[in-house]
Amino acid sequence: MSELREEIEKRRTFAIISHPDAGKTTLTEKFLLYGGAINLAGSVKGKATARHAVSDWMEIEKQRGISVTSSVLQFSYGGCCINILDTPGHQDFSEDTYRTLMAADSAVMVIDASKGVEAQTKKLFKVCTLRHIPIFTFINKMDRDAMDTFALLDDIEKNLGIETCPMNWPIGSGKAFKGVYDRQNQEILTYDGTEKGTKEGTESRIPFDDEAAVEQKIGKDALENLKDEIDLMDGASAEFDLDTVRAGQLTPVFFGSALMNFGVETFLTHFLEMALPPTPRVSDKGEIDPVENAFSAFVFKIQANMNKAHRDRIAFMRICSGKYVSDMDVRHVQSGRTGRLQQPQQLMASDRKVIQEAYAGDIIGVFDPGLYSIGDTLCDPSYSFRYEGIPTFAPEHFARVRQVDTMKRDQFVKGITQIAQEGAIQIFKELGSGMEEIIAGVVGMLQLDVLKFRLESEYNVEIRLDVLPYEHIRWIRSNADVRKITGTTDMKRVEDMKGNPLLLFINPWSVQMVLERNEGLVLEEFSRD
Ligand code: G4P
Repeated sequence: MSELREEIEKRRTFAIISHPDAGKTTLTEKFLLYGGAINLAGSVKGKATARHAVSDWMEIEKQRGISVTSSVLQFSYGGCCINILDTPGHQDFSEDTYRTLMAADSAVMVIDASKGVEAQTKKLFKVCTLRHIPIFTFINKMDRDAMDTFALLDDIEKNLGIETCPMNWPIGSGKAFKGVYDRQNQEILTYDGTEKGTKEGTESRIPFDDEAAVEQKIGKDALENLKDEIDLMDGASAEFDLDTVRAGQLTPVFFGSALMNFGVETFLTHFLEMALPPTPRVSDKGEIDPVENAFSAFVFKIQANMNKAHRDRIAFMRICSGKYVSDMDVRHVQSGRTGRLQQPQQLMASDRKVIQEAYAGDIIGVFDPGLYSIGDTLCDPSYSFRYEGIPTFAPEHFARVRQVDTMKRDQFVKGITQIAQEGAIQIFKELGSGMEEIIAGVVGMLQLDVLKFRLESEYNVEIRLDVLPYEHIRWIRSNADVRKITGTTDMKRVEDMKGNPLLLFINPWSVQMVLERNEGLVLEEFSRD
């Protein structure tokens, strides 16, 4: 096997999707622990102080003690080179969280066993299904009282519309948690409280047909119950099929406790076996094979002003084919320019290191002199294809933006337009109007604070934000005359910066009502322009 193929086939690039507090950080820490990337769990982030260390790129991050940017963690385990893309949650949930999913080849979905599918997981899942990437489920916190296992699986199937296949089955939960039954190996993986933060697991395995040993370990009642549940599960759950998993139509489900480090290594091992290395990506000239082609990548995120003194920007790109070596010439397809990437770097939890080489599947950040936009393609100078663009995701919060000092009109328009071009916010205006009335749309509320902060600190423009009650936005896909659409009282007509008409709604049910009132109208939640 060529060195290139070997390197690329070792790569597993994935994102973890979850609702805040489900255990994403804890699980990531445990993964890193297995990979030997950190010595002690708890040092990744999660605590305000640790978060300062992760990133001090923007002053606002320091002020708030949270990370606005998402980083990439790379480590090795079991012969694989793993890239975990961080998908920021909590207050720093933003369009970047969605865009990051465009750079992942698969997703790990962490669900809190006592809560089931929650709002943010649902949103992130929806974005994953746009690309049909495989999704692996880890049902976490089994050391706490959990929902009924069948109810949990049902919840995933009904709420997310994906079939589930339990790979193991929990024996009790909370204080009565005894471990899991491994379906494939037909054995019990027993749980005896693990010391927090250590790798020394106390998992032990007992073959299921050694009934006496199993009964001694988990008790007679738990064993009877388990047998009943196994019978039910065998009859009710979908058959495991790797192709269906890889097509994103069936999610393998594992149970465990990230905090207690139970079931994590089993999950990681199975995940690495089932998840695919980088696969071909679609371009306007057909599919681009990761191994057969020379270097190509696309930009999925732009982080502005990491260093205020230089007003610099970092463009994050996902390498889709071939190998990047420092000092090689690369074509930026959208501008037609060929040159070297400036200061290419890879990000590890807290430090950035300049890289000499990187392969398909890896993420690199490069200095952006203001050339790149989200979705742009970079490739070997002999190529000229473009990767499919990154959709514009529906903002969920809107605010009217006005400058306080009307004399600073030009700076205001320039600043807000530049920030919108970076993809940090979206801007809309009244139909047919100029830039007098601007409405900013964001995925996470924090982005509005970032907008205010950046306009003040970088463009010296003070603004006033009036939050508007709209929560739902729809792009118009059909050829309808937007002025003639029969609306609802809570509907507002606006246009984006390219002049595309859009509708804003306060109530979700109004969307359906407008569709019913206007025959042939097609509305969409994502824009691919
Ligand atoms: P997130 O990144 O998805 O937001 O979640 P995070 O890992 O930060 O976990 C949220 C809380 O849930 C933390 O508690 C964490 O310790 C706890 N947790 C994570 N996994 C498990 C698990 O398997 N079992 C139990 N019982 N708890 C779990 P915290 O009180 O907010 O923080 P900490 O003081 O414990 O660190």
